[in-house]
Amino acid sequence: MSETILVTGGAGFIGSNFVLDWLAGEHGPVVNLDKLTYAGNAANLAAAEGNPEYTFIHGDILDAALVARLLAEHRPSAVVHFAAESHVDRSIAGPEAFLRTNIDGTFVLLQAARQHFASLAGAEKDRFRFLHVSTDEVYGTLAPHDPAFHEDTPYAPNSPYAASKASSDHLVRAWHHTYGLPTLVTNCSNNYGPYQFPEKLIPLMINNALSGKPLPVYGDGLQVRDWLYVGDHCSAIRAVLQGGRLGQTYNVGGGNQRTNLEVVRTLCALLDELRPHSPHVPHIDLLTYVQDRPGHDRRYAIDAQKLESELHWQPAESFETGFRKTIEWYLANPAWVQNVTSGAYKSWMQQNYASRIPVAAVPSEGATR
Ligand code: NAD
Ligand code: TYD
Repeated sequence: MSETILVTGGAGFIGSNFVLDWLAGEHGPVVNLDKLTYAGNAANLAAAEGNPEYTFIHGDILDAALVARLLAEHRPSAVVHFAAESHVDRSIAGPEAFLRTNIDGTFVLLQAARQHFASLAGAEKDRFRFLHVSTDEVYGTLAPHDPAFHEDTPYAPNSPYAASKASSDHLVRAWHHTYGLPTLVTNCSNNYGPYQFPEKLIPLMINNALSGKPLPVYGDGLQVRDWLYVGDHCSAIRAVLQGGRLGQTYNVGGGNQRTNLEVVRTLCALLDELRPHSPHVPHIDLLTYVQDRPGHDRRYAIDAQKLESELHWQPAESFETGFRKTIEWYLANPAWVQNVTSGAYKSWMQQNYASRIPVAAVPSEGATR
């Protein structure tokens, strides 16, 4: 019986870390279906090339015939669904692709998985899982002293990205409730680590700082995110896949709440230490407050108690160890950064930042919304 898994979006940031960890752990064969959008990069999986356990399929999750064929041919024991449009700022600039991939694409996968599941019997049927990788952004925003998001926090998505992910979560829930599809959902906080596309806060700030460009902090920089090292997200997904209860959702987070300003300051201090002869030391002088993101969520925080107590998951990295590792990875891989920041990346930077007027006000640390 096959132990193959079908991963979608495995050439993106989290997906490629997941595939590499899965292969390194010798958990079984992986089929990776990825459209290779601007965020997907086959080079992330260079280490898997030539590995007989790894198959790459260049294709779209919206292609129902392709998805059905892959399920029939490979008979995976699980679908692990990462593929998505994932950047909030891009969802504000152009929401349509988010609705197509995140909602319609998840629908296509659910329908194909449902048909496939109906054709299975015995142990193969008992083992099958559809794991949907989602985000804490579906829960909306928290005030400074609100308790962290837990699995029954009401959904209140605020950005087009969050709304599209919330919609897809609801579809997954319904496919379990109505059709009995054996689903699992994970809602994770902000990830950081190797292979993250430099449009997201941490790699963007590293990349700008290294080339002496302004570090664009939105608004007052006191928005809070709950950071998790990507490898810990991957171990959480493996734990849920192995032991999660069907139809359940599991919050994933590392308990590392930081303001964006704290993140940027820590990053600059580490770069000062690791690149002491750079002409841009002290890097913090590059910090520039710019016009805020419309509808910007103020605070995210995750309560991961359920995952910890039911499945005995714990993150391996603290923010300090994971953050240092991440910066060292970007410093050691300039060719990767160079490769993904040519061409279309430059036009996105122009589109998103050129019209963001720098704002002079330096906020006080105690300020709240
Ligand atoms: P990413 O943008 O880095 O990668 C997305 C991948 O999906 C890319 O390889 C892209 O080519 C592929 N893709 C996009 N549209 C596709 C389509 N129609 N068909 C096939 N492939 C397609 O995203 P990420 O940061 O790795 O996030 C992966 C998943 O995890 C997403 O579902 C996201 O919502 C979720 N998530 C991300 C974070 C985070 O901090 N990055 C946190 C929690 C949850
Ligand atoms: P981001 O990495 O886009 O993740 P998300 O919006 O999904 O949380 O942004 C993280 C935080 O950093 C968020 O509060 C927005 C802020 N931010 C900036 O201040 N400047 C930037 O250039 C970017 C990309 C993000």
